[in-house]
Amino acid sequence: MNDVLTVHGGTPLVGSLAVRGAKNFVSKAMVAALLGEGPSVLRNVPQIRDVTVVTGLLELHGVQVEDVQGPESELRLDPANVDHAHVADIDAHAGSSRIPILFCGPLLHRLGEAFIPDLGGCRIGDRPINYHLDVLRQFGAVVDKMPNGISLKAPNGLQGTKLELPYPSVGSTEQVLLTAVRAEGVTELRNAAIEPEIMDLIAVLQKMGAIISVDTDRTIRIEGVDRLSGFTHTALPDRIEAASWACAALATKGDIMVHGARQTEMMTFLNVFRKVGGELDIRDEGIRFSHPGGALNSLVLETDVHPGFMTDWQQPLVVALTQASGLSIVHETVYENRFGFTAALRDMGAQIQLYRECLGGRACRFGARNFQHSAVISGPAKLHGADITVPDLRGGFSHLIAALAAEGTSRVRGIGLIDRGYEHFQTKLESLGANYERG
Ligand code: EPU
Repeated sequence: MNDVLTVHGGTPLVGSLAVRGAKNFVSKAMVAALLGEGPSVLRNVPQIRDVTVVTGLLELHGVQVEDVQGPESELRLDPANVDHAHVADIDAHAGSSRIPILFCGPLLHRLGEAFIPDLGGCRIGDRPINYHLDVLRQFGAVVDKMPNGISLKAPNGLQGTKLELPYPSVGSTEQVLLTAVRAEGVTELRNAAIEPEIMDLIAVLQKMGAIISVDTDRTIRIEGVDRLSGFTHTALPDRIEAASWACAALATKGDIMVHGARQTEMMTFLNVFRKVGGELDIRDEGIRFSHPGGALNSLVLETDVHPGFMTDWQQPLVVALTQASGLSIVHETVYENRFGFTAALRDMGAQIQLYRECLGGRACRFGARNFQHSAVISGPAKLHGADITVPDLRGGFSHLIAALAAEGTSRVRGIGLIDRGYEHFQTKLESLGANYERG
């Protein structure tokens, strides 16, 4: 019953909360600590399940992880005794996250071999790891697929190389960075992703002693070095969590001050929020997002890699768009299957149609294939309560927003998934005046 919330909707969410470090940076910086000769200190770490999973994997490999509670929310990571882990122990983490794949490069440098369990993460598309394995092979790794994971060896060490990604994948860019910094010679990566979380990872690696430059055409050049030290770093804020609360304010006609939200990484989102009709108050300490009353505007939008509109902002925004007047079109170009969550919204009264065609923008790589990756949302729709099961992290949060915006009572099952990426979300909901019970 812990995994169910009974939500009584129809009350605006009003109040303030704080976001901490970005989930999609913190977990990678923790892996980077494996590369250092000395201990690292990471600050502004949120208490979310992805951090627990990476902590477990690091500890299995001999890294001492100390969770220092307090205002700095600090992790101390000491890789002095990095060692092989038992395959059975690693396997116990199978399916819990996508981060294990990023252990490959650091473990190959430290131990000459690595075993990576089958990956988890949200089911929002196929999410293959072919780019990861291709780049690791190009560095000189020997990759063997096993029944329960992947085994890698680097009998002759890892060498810098020239690479080009078929698509600017975030994880594959991070894979290259975490591998190239200690590889022999120079690595050049074309068509790299340059999300703010990646730039913060580059900042961490530079603090450790790496030499990395980013060209204007998204080519990243890394000069391998012999040794790296530990780092001390404060994680950039979680712009996905901040935008999720912003959409909750819009959808529920509320007013939420998000302490810690930062304008620079959110400019694309902030433009969209304003165009839809939301009101912004951008301050040094955070951003206040509110619904000014009256009608919201529909719009046409497509998701993209940075500096485009993030795919992770799409799901909560769609809930807000169900309340906008007229037809909105959203074209998802990053994941082929990220509209599955709209079925539950339809059950709640939203008017959303999915299409295989690329609507409203340019043609994307999913266009000529069989994926429903464009959505037409007609609003404003009166949402009513329903029984919902959370499908994935962002989709789940979006269902929760919809339940809070809807008239009547909803039962939301599987809310444990939301803990993967939203720190203390129930406490935050309470502070915003949400009306719900556990169970
Ligand atoms: N792709 C491949 N082959 C690969 C890797 C990726 O085809 O080997 C494809 C994917 O299937 C997808 C596209 O490339 O269509 C982009 O995927 P990417 O590698 O950029 O995603 P990721 O690194 O697996 C991270 C975040 C996601 C976020 C994406 C895009 C983490 C742990 N996850 O995933 O976050 O949506 O980048 O920004 O950093 C979330 O937080 O809820 C989440 C899903």
